[in-house]
Formats: sequence, C-alpha cells, structure tokens
Amino acid sequence: MIIAVDGPAGSGKSTISKLLAKELGLVYLDTGAMYRLFTLKMLKENVSFSDNDKINELLEKLNINIENDKFYLDDEDVSKEIRKTDVAENVSKTAAIDEVREKMVSLQREFSKSKNVILDGRDIGTVVFPEADIKIFLVADPRERAERRFKELKAKGENISLDSIYENILKRDKLDSTRENSPLKKANDAIEVDTTGKNIEEVKNIILNLYNNKG
Ligand code: DC
Repeated sequence: MIIAVDGPAGSGKSTISKLLAKELGLVYLDTGAMYRLFTLKMLKENVSFSDNDKINELLEKLNINIENDKFYLDDEDVSKEIRKTDVAENVSKTAAIDEVREKMVSLQREFSKSKNVILDGRDIGTVVFPEADIKIFLVADPRERAERRFKELKAKGENISLDSIYENILKRDKLDSTRENSPLKKANDAIEVDTTGKNIEEVKNIILNLYNNKG
C-alpha cells in the first residue's frame, strides 16, 4: 500500500500524514525533510549551488537517517536545524538540482520497498510512485498556510515574523512549481482536498473515507 500526499508548503501534508500513518498502521516518510537534510549539508560545507562536482561528491557520501520524528545528518540529530530559516530559504534551490532529485527519489523508493507507506512531498504521485494506491493533493490559501507555519515555529521557540514566512511560502511555491524537473503539480488521478478553514480532524476524515472506499 502506497499513499502519496503532495501539495505546497504548509498545506497540512505532514500533520495529516503522521495521523493517518498512526491510524492505518503505515510507515510515514517526510520526503521534504530529505531535501532539507541535504540543503543543511550544503550550507555546512559551504558548497555553491553551481558546483556540480562538489554536489555529486556530497551525494555519493551522503549519510542521512530518519527514525520516527528524528532526522540525522552524519549521525547528528539535526531535527531542529532543518526547520530553520537558512534551510527554508535554500531548500527549493537544492530541490531543483537533477542529481539531488535522482538520489532522493531512489532513496525514497528503496525505503518504501515491501512496506505499507505514506509519503508526503511534491512529486510523490507524479514521479516517485505514479502507481500509488491513493493520491491526495492538499491545497490551502497561502495566508492560512503561513499562519500555520508561524504557529508551529513559534511553539518551537523560533523568532520569525509572519510576513517573512508568508514571503518564503510564496517564493517556494513559485520555485517548486515552475522548476523543470518534477515540478509541484497535481497528478491527473490525485484527489484534491482544500484544507482552508478545515481542522485536522475534518481533513483526516475526508482522506479516511477515500481510503475506506478504496479498500
Ligand atoms: O515539505 P517541505 O516544506 O519540508 O519541503 C521542503 C522543500 O523540499 C520544498 O520547498 C520542495 C522540496 N521538495 C521536493 O522538491 N520534493 C519533495 N518530494 C519534497 C520536498
């Protein structure tokens, strides 16, 4: 069983995917975190986005691990760091690099082998698993998405303004949906769910209904 959950930043993908994973006994994979981990590596090593040789070298030696809610880079827990502004501001650039996508897609397929999985991202239903059993495309008004992110980051003690989050979300939406390789877009057979004004429970129930009707 593969469930693909795609959509723009802040549309509720990870919250919903985690809940569904628990409810349905699936393994959850946050594919955005993988791009964030590699972005953090690039920033730590001071690698330029145009230095293909160095990028390939880093990809070859990449050491990332995901265990439940913890994200590791070179065996160090960087779960907090990958959510910070410098990573958020650079991750769409990293995610537009062909070699990076190739590596991440192959890791995602490898991870999902012989498992029942729910993956969230931008290209899960279109590229990673075009044969997924259920494809959901979550959308929401950008202001509301920014407010959700703002609350999340504030709760974690991050000091960042709502406006700068809003700007970052608009910028990432644009970069992620206009890049050449695997842009963010709804798969033809995905079901679009607009989460604007809906609480988590409502969205979860919509998707559970789809799941039950499918089964
Ligand atoms: O889901 P997120 O906001 O943590 O994702 C971070 C970035 O990674 C996002 O701006 C685009 C990129 N991404 C991607 O290109 N493909 C995916 N499957 C997941 C994320």
